[in-house]
Amino acid sequence: MFFRKKAAETAAAPGAASAQTGGGTVHVAMTVNGKPVAAEIDPRMLLVQFLRDHLRLTGTHVGCDTSQCGACVVHVEGRAAKSCTLLAATCDGARITTIEGLATDGKLHPMQEAFRQHHGLQCGFCTPGMIMAAVDLVQRSGGKLDDHAIREGLEGNLCRCTGYHNIVAAVKAAAANMGSMRQAAE
Ligand code: FES
Ligand code: FES
Repeated sequence: MFFRKKAAETAAAPGAASAQTGGGTVHVAMTVNGKPVAAEIDPRMLLVQFLRDHLRLTGTHVGCDTSQCGACVVHVEGRAAKSCTLLAATCDGARITTIEGLATDGKLHPMQEAFRQHHGLQCGFCTPGMIMAAVDLVQRSGGKLDDHAIREGLEGNLCRCTGYHNIVAAVKAAAANMGSMRQAAE
């Protein structure tokens, strides 16, 4: 994927991005929740910092900063990614969706609704990342998910409150709803 390639280029040539502008910053432009955004940023800025600190989209959380907890998961080109592990500069040109962009026309996404109905959260800290990861999991699975596959698919997302039982129930319910929505659209 393009951002992995760009990450490799950045890793291979540290400082190359800032050299492009000559001012220690780099220009990035991306689409976030359907809206075009652009900024001059420090090339070392993480995607999660760009979303939270620059765009004030604070629904994406930072739990560990070391790629362990999954609280920072967003979608990059429709696929779940831990935004604490990506440089914002490597997402130049990408389509990003955060938890704030999941609902449409004021209506919760089926995954959000299922978490609400099945009490898939307590403190809510893990929830944005859990929901973004779960949406990607369901989309990749084509709706064929049992409890084991859900637990395995979400093993990169940690929750210290719920014991996971209700999260699994919520994802299963959402997978069924998303499957019937898909069939209705076909
Ligand atoms: Fe990114 Fe924990 S903050 S994985
Ligand atoms: Fe508290 Fe998951 S609901 S960490």
